[in-house]
Amino acid sequence: MTDIPIPDSVEHVLLDEATIRARIEVLAEKISRDYAGIRNEDFILVGVLKGSFIFLADLARRLTVPHRVDFIALSSYTDATDVPGAVRLIMDTRASIPGRHVLIVEDILDTGYTLSYLQRVFSARGPASLRTCVLLSKPERRKVEVPVDYLGFEIPDVWVVGYGLDFNDRFRTLPYIAALKRSAYEK
Ligand code: XMP
Ligand code: MG
Repeated sequence: MTDIPIPDSVEHVLLDEATIRARIEVLAEKISRDYAGIRNEDFILVGVLKGSFIFLADLARRLTVPHRVDFIALSSYTDATDVPGAVRLIMDTRASIPGRHVLIVEDILDTGYTLSYLQRVFSARGPASLRTCVLLSKPERRKVEVPVDYLGFEIPDVWVVGYGLDFNDRFRTLPYIAALKRSAYEK
């Protein structure tokens, strides 16, 4: 276990390293079983930057099926004139999608807007299949229902950081997932 001091703004550790690791092993086994026999060039893991980078790295290294790794980056619109939850693609995959099996790897499902947007974008590109793998889900926060094929953990409605997740780009590389103190993010 890594001995890293817990920052002051952290309320408590929600999921420690061992718990995350054990769950990822289970997810990787399921995914490896479901995609058994696939060819390397046909299976693309698409990580959503930046939040998923650690999850994707750990998950991918546990897969026993060949796969490629690619990334996309999104930005949410903050303009008040835009519809709520509108997101846009600011960096696309390098791999071409038509005919390939795509697994979107996301850090956290909150309102569901991001993942449903991604499902629309990728399904329009004619993949052989499209599935989603999400580390965390806050069911209480959902505004739109999105199918998730592989889910790590359900968590309560608290802001979490660590293991790729951040608050204003801080705490991203904590080895565990922790709830932030409300005073740190609520004014
Ligand atoms: P939606 O609402 O579209 O949002 O499902 C998903 C995105 O919101 C971010 N998000 C979080 N990021 N800690 C974070 O670091 C959290 O507790 C949290 N809740 C939502 C995240 O970028 C995710 O992709
Ligand atoms: Mg994200």
